[in-house]
Amino acid sequence: MKLASFDVKNKKILLRVDFNVAIEGGRVMEPRRIEAAIPTIKWLIERRASLVAMSHLGRPQGWDKKYSLEPVARVLSEILRREKIPASVELWAKPFPGPELALRAGALKPNEILMLENLRFHPGEEKNDPILAKFLSGLGDMFVQEAFGAMHRAHASVDALARLMPQRTFGFLVEKELEVLGRLLSNAPKPFLVILGGLKVSDKISAIDHLLEKGVDRVLVGGALAYTFLKAKGVAVGKSPVEEDWVERVKPLVGQNGHGRLLIRKDHWIVRDVNNPAGARQTQDAAIAEEWEGVDVGPKTLEAFSKEIASAQTIFWNGPVGIIEVPPFERGSSEIARMIAARTKAGALTVLGGGDTIYALSKAGVSEAEFTHVSTGGGATIGFLEGKVLPGVAAMAGR
Ligand code: 3PG
Repeated sequence: MKLASFDVKNKKILLRVDFNVAIEGGRVMEPRRIEAAIPTIKWLIERRASLVAMSHLGRPQGWDKKYSLEPVARVLSEILRREKIPASVELWAKPFPGPELALRAGALKPNEILMLENLRFHPGEEKNDPILAKFLSGLGDMFVQEAFGAMHRAHASVDALARLMPQRTFGFLVEKELEVLGRLLSNAPKPFLVILGGLKVSDKISAIDHLLEKGVDRVLVGGALAYTFLKAKGVAVGKSPVEEDWVERVKPLVGQNGHGRLLIRKDHWIVRDVNNPAGARQTQDAAIAEEWEGVDVGPKTLEAFSKEIASAQTIFWNGPVGIIEVPPFERGSSEIARMIAARTKAGALTVLGGGDTIYALSKAGVSEAEFTHVSTGGGATIGFLEGKVLPGVAAMAGR
């Protein structure tokens, strides 16, 4: 049953969110994951529910102030105020489990949000500890899973807790993520194009395999991961980063198994020293001379990519195609962002994923609203596209 069909009036909701956001100097740098959960929070609060909100943040080893959710709770309060959602936020900054927290949660009144401190401060979270899950399950009447970005983790708040809650459902964000990503794997309008960037082949190879199996028409390989593919083809890549252990693994893809559907970058911007962007040059073709390193795609690649993008009806883009943090090597990614935005306007289904891809959008000055969907997941999105049943989905289905 979907969230909208539940009667949540005066109920205590255990809300798992993914507020794993970048924090620097005690400040939230990018609030989009917090904002993405607001429609669900608003809907619950408008129905006079009270919430026990739970999230992880980073990968702390035990209780560590650096990974406190305190800045997140502050930003959540600010957003609620800005959106005129009448709810208060209180951070439960003491260790748990314990009777004190159970008492506090028991006394929650409608419109109160009690946010637990970083779940990963507790050793049981990542161990999927049934005792921790049992304790958490006693804090509310119903479980709402809104942490799409964490659903590839079989952790206590994602897996064991969900199974213990007879009343459970997805939040609106997770519903949308599963629906849109699901469309990529079945009945995506054709031609279906995947654009891959980023550094590591190893993170994405299973997703590439699965998408090719699912009938993707074209895979454009544009990011630094392209150097591993080029090396597998016997093309010189200079001192560009290559995942040596994966060269053999991608060989079949650049040959027969890719069925000619892979389009690997054709030229590059290269530098001798990344700290000296003024010394950048364009290559004539895909080969990179010794001592040089690829930093962005060149014009031939962009032209080839633009032809593919212009006719695609479905596009999934994950990962920038250059070193976007060093100007001007964000140019290729910015061009691609604009081309995909134009296709969205023309009616194509366009889905983006991964934190770096979103950073590329901000560099390009293109807003998220210019795409069909911008996924909040990193590993979860890739895991889904690999065809895996995410642990968070399995737990909600009781499988
Ligand atoms: C993410 O940022 O991808 C999620 O919050 C999961 O974080 P994790 O990789 O530390 O489990």
